[in-house]
Amino acid sequence: MSGHESTYEPTTAFGKWLDARLPIVRMVHAQAVDFPTPRNLNYWWTFGGILSFCLVAQIVTGIVLAMHYQPSAELAFDSVERIRRDVNFGWLLRNLHAVGASMFFLAAYIHIFRGLYYGSYKAPREVLWIIGVLIFLAMMATAFMGYSLPWGQMSLWGVTVITNLFSSLDSIWKGLGTTIVEWLWGGYSVSGVTLNRFYALHYLLPFVLAGLVGLHIWALHVVGQNSPTGLDIKTKSDSVPFTPYATSKDAVGMFAFLLLFCWFAFFLPDYLGHADNYIPANPLVTPPHIVPEWYFLPFYAILRAIPSKLGGVIAMFGAIAVLFFVPWLDTSKVRSTKYRPLYRWFFWLFAFSCLALGWLGSKPAEAEYVFWARVFTFYYFAHFLIVMPLVGWFETPLKVPGSITEAVLGKDKGAKLAPAKS
Ligand code: HEM
Repeated sequence: MSGHESTYEPTTAFGKWLDARLPIVRMVHAQAVDFPTPRNLNYWWTFGGILSFCLVAQIVTGIVLAMHYQPSAELAFDSVERIRRDVNFGWLLRNLHAVGASMFFLAAYIHIFRGLYYGSYKAPREVLWIIGVLIFLAMMATAFMGYSLPWGQMSLWGVTVITNLFSSLDSIWKGLGTTIVEWLWGGYSVSGVTLNRFYALHYLLPFVLAGLVGLHIWALHVVGQNSPTGLDIKTKSDSVPFTPYATSKDAVGMFAFLLLFCWFAFFLPDYLGHADNYIPANPLVTPPHIVPEWYFLPFYAILRAIPSKLGGVIAMFGAIAVLFFVPWLDTSKVRSTKYRPLYRWFFWLFAFSCLALGWLGSKPAEAEYVFWARVFTFYYFAHFLIVMPLVGWFETPLKVPGSITEAVLGKDKGAKLAPAKS
């Protein structure tokens, strides 16, 4: 972790004894209390804490759900109904877990867009960002497998469509795709065997996620937080201790987020899901429109925008893979989009494209929708591969304040405080 000092002083005899043998309290104090935080962080910086809460909430509710859930094709659907109707507070656990998945993705998308806007991926935060992208991939895999568990119509057909994508590899090497798909399924179609292995992996992956989050936060504490100005902490007056300042701000953000979470969990628990998933899985009846959960829709639109199956699969995975290279694709000298008059427009065009792709992904793959999905898919990739490198070269950024202190307190007062050594 970063080398800042800890103000921790054990006061009890036991505290001193432990500190001399395992300075764990000292370490936690250094990272969660003394950790210097930029004094100008806004509420978009509360989403990391909110995401940590979401992960813990998913694990806790998930473990209790697992005590009542039955991962077999015959019992899965009914066991979920039983949880909702008969298990004490089962309805609450199930609502929190199902709505929680959506809230987790909502927070993750806000967190990612915050990073993109303020250039948090730029040096020295490349590894922090890359771990973030790995987290995003693990979240997607976890949610995809979790959605299969209620074994409703969308569970079965969603798994069928997405796992079948691997069969497109047949066009590269005959038989390769089919072999992979049958290996994933554990048979010649999606069945209870597939459900059982998805359940095993759905239980495992959140712990992998927890490990990745640990690395993510470790990397963050080595390089320090970025800030809305895109400036790093240079002097003591640029920062405040993490506790009580960031912790209390995080608590306010979390409270607002929980209001939204509870509103869905208590009043609209099924609003974000698909009604067809309350029809038990039936391999003999294909739903007219197979759509994934809302958080996968932009990627689904990209998949369907490309006429060839293999091309669609490559584009869909490419849409995530390109994120790994963002720290090197952005050639701008300043981090924060706040000081980038030209790039700012492209940023919002990109955000709009993602929303548009999400909406198009929910529509049937018909002529007009596919046309627009192609337009926005083009921009999605052009943004990273053309706009980011070129605009960074040509744009003249606005004047960036001399320091974080100056950005908050103004030039005169800031200049007086800023020279203070940390
Ligand atoms: C389980 C999911 C995640 C958790 C629990 C998590 C947690 C955190 C926390 C606690 C912070 C510090 C507070 C903050 O800046 O909000 C942070 C910062 C950051 N995260 Fe994440 N994160 C997650 C996913 C992601 C993803 C998917 C990405 C990007 C693809 C990402 C990229 C970043 C970056 C670049 C920062 C530094 C931000 C800055 O200082 O400006 N994170 N994360």
